[in-house]
Amino acid sequence: MKNDQDLRSKRRKFLTAGAALPVALATGTFTLGTVARRTVLAATPECGDDPTPRQTAGPFFKPNSPSRGSLVEAGESGDVMLLAGRVLSTSCKPVAGALIDFWHCDAKGNYDNRGYRYRGHQYADADGGFSLETLVPGLYPGRTRHIHVIVQAPNRRAVTTQLYFPGERLNERDFIFNPALLLKVENESAPMRAQFDFVLNLD
Ligand SMILES: [Fe+2]
Repeated sequence: MKNDQDLRSKRRKFLTAGAALPVALATGTFTLGTVARRTVLAATPECGDDPTPRQTAGPFFKPNSPSRGSLVEAGESGDVMLLAGRVLSTSCKPVAGALIDFWHCDAKGNYDNRGYRYRGHQYADADGGFSLETLVPGLYPGRTRHIHVIVQAPNRRAVTTQLYFPGERLNERDFIFNPALLLKVENESAPMRAQFDFVLNLD
């Protein structure tokens, strides 16, 4: 069990999001004003005895997603969200170079199964940090709002999971919703700023 003192002792000063953005810029996948913004988020790594729970990948995972830090594409409408966090081990060490592969439906609840809209991967920086710019996903029928993620430490088994949004009416009715996978949302207005730390059991 964690207590407040433990959490305070683990609190890192700040996490500077945006470390992965050069990947997207270097690949030239898009250029948006919000991409260059460096967002400072307070980070409270919740590493410890409880690794991030695994969840199903669902039916819409596609391999070979583009390497990019933003999934926002020209012509798409929706609310921008900035998701940042770290990949940590249960012993609270950063997992540099971890693969983080995101996919989610568009603002209307549709997955792109032909192309790679709202699909992209990146690698955690030396501090385990990552940041993603995307649009808030819509509601896929039968599910609450969610983002799919695969996280994989170098040369280790991948962890597949899903992230959820706090305050969603459908969370409690969703058949696999897990409160341990709730994003920490600092502001709900666009651009939404959300934070999540993945914890991998690498022992
Ligand atoms: Fe899904």
